[in-house]
Amino acid sequence: MKLLVPITTVVSTFAMPTMSVSVFSRYSGGHACGRAWAANELSRSQLGEWAIQHFYYIDPIPQQFALLYSRLPDLDARQHLLENLLGEEMPGRPGKRHPDLLRKFARACGVGDDDIYRAEEKGLILPTTRAMRAWIWELASQRTMAEAFSGIMVALEGQLPTLYPMLVDAMHKMGFDDQQLEFFHVHIENDPGHEASGLSIATRYANTPELQRRAIAAVRASAQMRYSMLSGMQAAFGLRQAA
Ligand SMILES: [Fe+2]
Repeated sequence: MKLLVPITTVVSTFAMPTMSVSVFSRYSGGHACGRAWAANELSRSQLGEWAIQHFYYIDPIPQQFALLYSRLPDLDARQHLLENLLGEEMPGRPGKRHPDLLRKFARACGVGDDDIYRAEEKGLILPTTRAMRAWIWELASQRTMAEAFSGIMVALEGQLPTLYPMLVDAMHKMGFDDQQLEFFHVHIENDPGHEASGLSIATRYANTPELQRRAIAAVRASAQMRYSMLSGMQAAFGLRQAA
C-alpha cells in the first residue's frame, strides 16, 4: 500500500533541506499488497484477513484521538481534532462509526463479528499489526505534539482519500457494492484536507530544529510501521503470489 504523503512537502515545510528525501523512499514506495489489491489480484478471503487486522489497528483510534485532544494546548487544534474524532464516532448515527463500517466490509468478505471482536483471543492478530496500534498509542500519549500530528495526521490519515479510490475501483470489479464499501467511501469523502490541516498544526509545534527532526522521524516511522504491517499480512496470508 502506497504512502502517498508528499514527503517533499513535509521536508520543505520543516525547512530541513539536509534531510534526504531518499531516506523516505524506501518506506513510501507502493507496497506489493496495495498494488495487488488495486490490480484485483486479492481474493475476498484475503481482503477479509486484511479487515481483521485493520479493525484491530483502527478500533481504538477514537480513544487515541481523545487522549491527544486532552494534551493539546491550542483551541483551534483541539477543534480540528474534535471534528475528526466525531467523524470517527458518529454520535447519534448508529452503525456509522468507522469501526462499524469496517465490520460491514468484513461481513461482505465472509468475516463475522466473532472473528473481528475475538481476533486477539483467537490468536489472529499479527505482531506487526499490534506494533502499528501500539505506535499510535505512543504518538498520542507520549510523544511531542509535533511528532503526534506528523506521525498520525500527516503520515497516515492524509493518505486515505488518495489511496482508497484505487481500491474501491478494484473492489467494484470484484462485485462489492457501495454499501459494502462505505468504510472506504467515508474516508474518500470526509478526509480530504486532514493532511493539510495536520501538517499546518504539526508545523506550528515543530518550532525548533530538534522538534523538526523529530517530526520528520515520526513521519518516517509511521510509514515504516504501515509498510511493516502490510508485510506481516503478506507473509501470513500468502499474498506473496500476488506481488
Ligand atoms: Fe476513519
